[in-house]
Amino acid sequence: MNEFGYIMPTEIQFGEGVVQGIGEIIRDRGFEKPMIVTDKGIVAAGLIEGIQKSIEEAGFDCILYDEVIPNPRDKDCDKGAAFALEKGVDVLIAVGGGSAMDTAKAMATVMTNGKTSRDWMDVELDEQITPVICIPTTCGTGSEVTFNAVIINTETRLKGNIFDPKCAPILALVDPLMIKNLPAGLVSSTGIDALTHAIEAYVSTVATPITDMISIKAVQMIADNIVAATKGDMEARAEVLLASCYAGIAFGNADTAAVHCISECFGGFYDMPHGVTNSIFLPTVSEYSIPGNPKKYADCAAAMGCDISGLTDEEAAMKGVEKIKELCAEIGIPKLSSFTEVDPKDFDYLAQASSEHVCNPSNPIEFTAEQYKEIFEKVMAE
Ligand SMILES: NC(=O)c1ccc[n+]([C@@H]2O[C@H](COP(=O)([O-])OP(=O)(O)OC[C@H]3O[C@@H](n4cnc5c(N)ncnc54)[C@H](O)[C@@H]3O)[C@@H](O)[C@H]2O)c1
Ligand SMILES: [Fe+2]
Repeated sequence: MNEFGYIMPTEIQFGEGVVQGIGEIIRDRGFEKPMIVTDKGIVAAGLIEGIQKSIEEAGFDCILYDEVIPNPRDKDCDKGAAFALEKGVDVLIAVGGGSAMDTAKAMATVMTNGKTSRDWMDVELDEQITPVICIPTTCGTGSEVTFNAVIINTETRLKGNIFDPKCAPILALVDPLMIKNLPAGLVSSTGIDALTHAIEAYVSTVATPITDMISIKAVQMIADNIVAATKGDMEARAEVLLASCYAGIAFGNADTAAVHCISECFGGFYDMPHGVTNSIFLPTVSEYSIPGNPKKYADCAAAMGCDISGLTDEEAAMKGVEKIKELCAEIGIPKLSSFTEVDPKDFDYLAQASSEHVCNPSNPIEFTAEQYKEIFEKVMAE
């Protein structure tokens, strides 16, 4: 067996109602100036009031920063950091999907490391970030347990990563009640984001025995529950939320792969929702990647409930691809061609950027720009 390591600095509390303890948690840990980091959609969904109340009842003034936007940009994170520093904030409570959690992590990076969030992409941080507590309200990103923040570099219009264990949240409060009223379209797209994390972590060239164990379990849980979750079944929603956290625990160490190379380029360039881009590309990228590790894709097919008895690994793996397509069709994932802003004239730039993406070497086959372009054209024609 090869050598491997594992690191997960974030404490997790899971369960219905765990967010209600936030005020006490802040007090017990000695913080004095908490600030909630969120977006206006979360506020409108009524998800902040209980958290605010808990913080105020513990004796704190609760500062609310609700300027987060989906697909956060470097400049917005820097603005947020300046605001938090001016207010003397000593702990950030991110409430929301990946956008709120990543914005908080990027803000917290700048608060202690200085410079701008863009300066900290793809380099080691000097300092531990200001403490961040994460409360996910979607069931996709796993950002509550990962030590990266995905933000748009406004110069290249591509997404980049602040990636360092010093960027890990101190605590994840994973509460199924936060996704009770999550609209079905967001359950499906963010749930397939989590499935993508789980599959990509499992097939990754840097996967380890620990990440394999966690990611394959997440694949099974999402495949078993995503359809019922989109229909509002709370048990199923809780399973998908927990699975998204498992997937984060796995890909935080095992990386993601080619679907994310594409998704972060398309997401940055066209401002498309991350879960949607992943869902659109997952089947075709998997199909192209199977020759790099047929056995692992066959394992994913089995975990998704496909009957693979008597099949070769390649045949079994293809059953898995069909299963992903079926799931995506059942939960209403849109086609790439329905996004009018997507223009094939941009494909050379996006294919080159995908091939240079930091996750490309983790894919079972490291794709060239030409292969990425071929995938874009195939998916666009679907
Ligand atoms: N750091 C990581 O490990 C990691 C992993 C995957 C993705 N990401 C990043 O996360 C971002 C995507 O995050 P996301 O998919 O969670 O979506 P998001 O945070 O961008 O939110 C999308 C929309 O959903 C709304 N919303 C969220 N929760 C809701 C709820 N419970 N009820 C009603 N509305 C709600 C928000 O207001 C927002 O308008 C992307 O920028 C992506 O690149 C980060
Ligand atoms: Fe993702």
